Amino acid sequence: MAKTHTHAQWSSRMGFVLAATGSAVGLGNIWKFPYMIGQSGGAAFVLVYLACIAMIGLPILVSEWMIGRRGQKNPINTMSEVAAANGRSRNWAVVGATGVLGAFLILSFYSVIGGWALSYMGDMASGSFSGMDKEAVGGAFTAFLADPGSLLVWHSVFMALTVGVVAMGVSGGLERASKLMMPALGILLMVLVAYGTTTGGFGAAVQYLFNPDWSKLDGKVVLAALGHAFFTLSLGMGIMMAYGSYLGQDVNLLRTARTVVLMDTVIAIAAGLAIFPIVFANGLDPAAGPGLIFVTLPLAFGNISGGLVLGTIFFLLLTFAALTSAISLLEPVVELVEERTPLSRLGATAVAGMATWALGIAALLSFNVWGDVLIFGLNIFDLLDQLTSKFLLPLTGLGAIVFAAWYLDRDSVRKELGLSAGAFGVWSFVARFVAPAGVLIVFVSNL
Ligand code: PHE
Ligand code: NA
Repeated sequence: MAKTHTHAQWSSRMGFVLAATGSAVGLGNIWKFPYMIGQSGGAAFVLVYLACIAMIGLPILVSEWMIGRRGQKNPINTMSEVAAANGRSRNWAVVGATGVLGAFLILSFYSVIGGWALSYMGDMASGSFSGMDKEAVGGAFTAFLADPGSLLVWHSVFMALTVGVVAMGVSGGLERASKLMMPALGILLMVLVAYGTTTGGFGAAVQYLFNPDWSKLDGKVVLAALGHAFFTLSLGMGIMMAYGSYLGQDVNLLRTARTVVLMDTVIAIAAGLAIFPIVFANGLDPAAGPGLIFVTLPLAFGNISGGLVLGTIFFLLLTFAALTSAISLLEPVVELVEERTPLSRLGATAVAGMATWALGIAALLSFNVWGDVLIFGLNIFDLLDQLTSKFLLPLTGLGAIVFAAWYLDRDSVRKELGLSAGAFGVWSFVARFVAPAGVLIVFVSNL
């Protein structure tokens, strides 16, 4: 495909791998996955989840990268042009549009949570939780959510950091930030796991995470594993399509996807090995849901020796995880604005960032002054969450995999993936039938 302008590129395969892993590794890994494993049957759940990752997550990840690399543009123009180049309708652009819209909507409330991580990092470092009891720590979280001013400050700081990184461009911003934050995240996580082994709660944590309980596996658990496989890899948001658009032809997509998926999974399991030893060693409730991170852990850190340092490390880690995901959410929006308006990279980032920031304010107000503003029975925060996770993401992901598996020239796909005829047969079967069926099942059952 002839190009009239030079499009940004990752500077190295390693940089791309770290940026994609940075996007994938987020709250889903640090909070949700460990919590799900414990609730849903330990190793039995892990096996189901790994199957979902292999049969659904990985093929969609590869499809999004492949489409993005062929299009070399923002997700909307990429879908339109790759479709046209294959003799298909340009209306496929709608798959790019739902992706970018999803990324924009998610970032607005993701940034609010990122702000919580920042705020808690400060509170930890300054010893605010030292010696507090359960009621006091819970009360502090409730009071924080009830205060729109504090939420606004931290949402704004988090959004400013996100905009600052994205404004610096693909290799100078996203890639460089990921090269700094992801290794740091890995080291911080290892420190916490190492601490976990010294607590006396480590055995209980391993038991909680890995002891297979097959009786807990039911349709609901399988659906949860399916949904999480999708969410954890940042699929269906135009993110991986945008990241693929900066990718050189020399990168092996399947091999790279395997690396990213492996790192995402290893970090999720390590997060469980960091969190649960502390929870069990202090006799706390492992199933405290959303409060696990913002109430249970601060309570523990406030009452153990070295808790000041360990707690600060934990919330720094959480901030890195959230920030590398947030920059990936802003990128498809910025790429779109930059390519479709006369704005420079800087201008496009400012405009996209400001719009997201403004919507985020509506989201954070739903924890307090707009708590009673309900649309379809949901407050604004929950509405944004449900609208994206139940509709936009599955539909975009489904569109991407169906397009890649059914509407691209098969021979060129086989060559691009470097597969033999036999291996390509397996790929085709999974990409054409298994993965779309999986997404469809999740989508329909969520309705
Ligand atoms: N993949 C991220 C996680 O596991 C989730 C995410 C959502 C990332 C939205 C980017 C955007 O937490
Ligand atoms: Na993830």
